[in-house]
Parts: sequence; C-alpha cells; structure tokens
Amino acid sequence: MDKEKSQTLSLLYSERDIQIVIEVLAKQISLDYEGKEVVLVCNLKGAFMFFSDLCKRLSFNPEIDFMITSSYQGTTESSGEVEIIKDLHTPIKGKHVLIVEDIVDTGLTYAFVKKHLGLHDPASIKIASLLDKPSQRLVDITVDYKGFFINNQFVVGYGMDYEGYYRNLPYVAILSEKGI
Ligand code: PRP
Repeated sequence: MDKEKSQTLSLLYSERDIQIVIEVLAKQISLDYEGKEVVLVCNLKGAFMFFSDLCKRLSFNPEIDFMITSSYQGTTESSGEVEIIKDLHTPIKGKHVLIVEDIVDTGLTYAFVKKHLGLHDPASIKIASLLDKPSQRLVDITVDYKGFFINNQFVVGYGMDYEGYYRNLPYVAILSEKGI
C-alpha cells in the first residue's frame, strides 16, 4: 500500500489507556440507563471498535442498531456536509437512544443525526464518544459521555481512518503527512 509510505504515526492512546477509559464510561452509562428501554446506535464506520468494547461492559441489555453516516470526503478536513448512507431499522419511539461515536469534531454529524432521529419521538437522545475535539466545534452540542479530549490533531486507529486505512489499529495514533 504505497499511501502508507508518506505518513507517520505516533501513539496517542494505547490499547490499555482506551480500555481503562471504556470501563469508566460503561459503569457510568450502566448506572444512568439501568432499567430503561435503550437503543444503542453504532454510527459506522469509525465507531465499530469502541461500540463493540463498550457494549460488552454494560450491565443492561440494550437493543442494538447501526447507522452509516459520512462527513469526511477522503481528506483530513471535515467537508461540513453529512450524508445518511444507512438509517436505523429499530423503532425508537418512547425509547432512550444512545449514539456511539469514535469522535466528535465539528459536531455537525451528531447535530444532524440527533435532529433526524428526534423526528421519531424517542424518550431521549444522548451521545457517547471516545474522543472529543472541542476546538473544532461548529455547532453547540453536548457530548454526554466522552473518553478523552484531544487537540486539533488528525488521529487514526481504533476504528478511525485516513482515506480508508488504519481503522484496524488497536490504539489511537496521531497521523502526520508530508504537507500537513
Ligand atoms: C467521523 C466520525 C464522526 C464524524 C465526526 O465520521 O466517525 O461520525 O466524523 O465529525 P464531525 O463532528 O465533524 O461531524 P466520518 O464521516 O469520517 O465517517 P467514518 O465514521 O466512516 O470514518
């Protein structure tokens, strides 16, 4: 894969760092949602690893569903537009929806998804994101459960990509590229 040759990765959060934070988040989410009807939504593709690890540690049994949205168009900058490629299938009326994300950057994806799902009359909609990059925010949103704050660095791994690659890494790394 020639593309990898012009990039360097430096470790930001190890597998162990990530798992410790997920344990804490799972305990808090379990406390807050125990006894409620919950739909846990994995927003693909980036959230797949965090979603899987988080699910396994919850003390309650939510319904699980998947959405696919896309905001970045193969670059390290957000395009500012959000597209729903796959919508939920699970009815959410009267249920508590928790959206699981790998990262909140501009906030446009979450704002869009929240508004979209809100049309179906859920009891509540909140978000759990492994990473929160508040310096890039373009809309006023609350990240209800967050793992780590990060600076304005482009990160890959643990579900997150650069042009489709690096999602499989079990850790989060900062990607730097010639010219960036
Ligand atoms: C990433 C990430 C969030 C979104 C956050 O998804 O998974 O969904 O960007 O950015 P925002 O706060 O600026 O909207 P992306 O659109 O890159 O798709 P992916 O999950 O398939 O990588």
